[in-house]
Amino acid sequence: MSDRHEPDPQLLAAATAAHERAYCPYSHYRVGAAIRTRSGAVIAGCNVENAAYPLGSCAEAGAIAAMVLAGERSIVEIVVVTDGDEPGTPCGGCRQRIREFAGPEVAVHAVAASGPTVSMTVGDLLPHSFGPEFLGQDH
Ligand code: THU
Repeated sequence: MSDRHEPDPQLLAAATAAHERAYCPYSHYRVGAAIRTRSGAVIAGCNVENAAYPLGSCAEAGAIAAMVLAGERSIVEIVVVTDGDEPGTPCGGCRQRIREFAGPEVAVHAVAASGPTVSMTVGDLLPHSFGPEFLGQDH
């Protein structure tokens, strides 16, 4: 079950493993993300950069693509692990990507690889958001 205040240990482990796999030779900023889906599956992704810089993709985007490929369309919790001593929260684009598959109440945990964690909700990250329900979609 999603806990607003503390990352699920299994999700944290998956996001930490994904963080180790990041391909980021340009920024040297590793990011791993892990999603718990409504069915209980854990699906992870990492950032993948490119010599043509704008083609790089975020860890959250990779995890969401893998989730959709797995046939899942509902996020109940997400953990993002980043380099450094400050937890890195999802970028603006990824906030909207997450919102596509998560309601405002869903917990998002940003975890610095060295330990510090900040827990929030999708609604905190993206208040008054535009989501799929505005276009008649209900996952
Ligand atoms: N990055 C992510 O993977 N997720 C975010 O939400 C923020 C940024 C990645 C993209 C790039 O590879 C590196 O972090 C530096 O921006």
